[in-house]
Amino acid sequence: MSLVVINEIEKLRNVIKDYKKQGKSIALVPTMGCLHEGHKSLMIKAHSIADITVASVFVNPIQFCPGEDYDRYPRTLDSDKIVAESAGVDIIFAPSVNEMYPNLQKFSDLTMVAPPYELTDIMCGKSRVGHFDGVETVVTKLFNIVQPDYACFGMKDIQQLFLIKKMVKDLNFPIEIIPCPLVREESGLALSSRNKYLSEEQKKAALSLSKALFAIRDLSNAGIKETKKLFDTGLTNLDKNVELEYLEFVDFDTFKQVNEVSQKTICALAARVGNVRLIDNIVLEV
Ligand code: PAF
Repeated sequence: MSLVVINEIEKLRNVIKDYKKQGKSIALVPTMGCLHEGHKSLMIKAHSIADITVASVFVNPIQFCPGEDYDRYPRTLDSDKIVAESAGVDIIFAPSVNEMYPNLQKFSDLTMVAPPYELTDIMCGKSRVGHFDGVETVVTKLFNIVQPDYACFGMKDIQQLFLIKKMVKDLNFPIEIIPCPLVREESGLALSSRNKYLSEEQKKAALSLSKALFAIRDLSNAGIKETKKLFDTGLTNLDKNVELEYLEFVDFDTFKQVNEVSQKTICALAARVGNVRLIDNIVLEV
């Protein structure tokens, strides 16, 4: 089957309804477009587990905070189609803002889905106030529109993955969330649509983020489990042009901070290089 692009909710619903009647399973890969190999790996995974793969491409205005990069976020639907098709995607759902939020000018009128405050007042949610409300709201809408059996999310946005898994459990969505590994450039840099903003010079500084995480992992593997010591090692590996926002050690299942590395500890960071905000993380094992 070749790729089709659908822009209207009603049209997508009808197509999905037909597939469901035929007993076909559906996997959804929600994205904001500007697709790279990381997205492609999610799509390949989705294609391998379901009969029909839907990828949404929608730059979601309500998950951007004031002053963030909503306006300049790359919109590259033509090249996205090529990536999606090569990964076996059957349908790209690319709605307009008006299609998703017909009354966005009256933001206060919008019904929102919000994760618990104590899980958003940490890490990315701390500096991006309201971001995860915007994410959960759009993901809920996409789940209701597409009604997938599976939804694939990358582990790069580890706090997002954790909150989506929790939302699905708390709100009883009949959807299996499939976490997919973070994908890196050969240099170690985690793939991100925002890497496009980096100059060559900034890219060199950005490389120190993964370098710091790898140094932490090596030390942890060598038996140093105290997160304070690992934190200090991380700091010493960061380039002077990196402005660290956070470097945290949390439990994979609870997202509570840990002082000692235990089974499945996530070491996650966010940092700015110039005006580009980047995130990365690594899973530490005992
Ligand atoms: O991870 C992203 O790209 C976005 O947060 C998502 C899940 C597509 C919601 O807009």
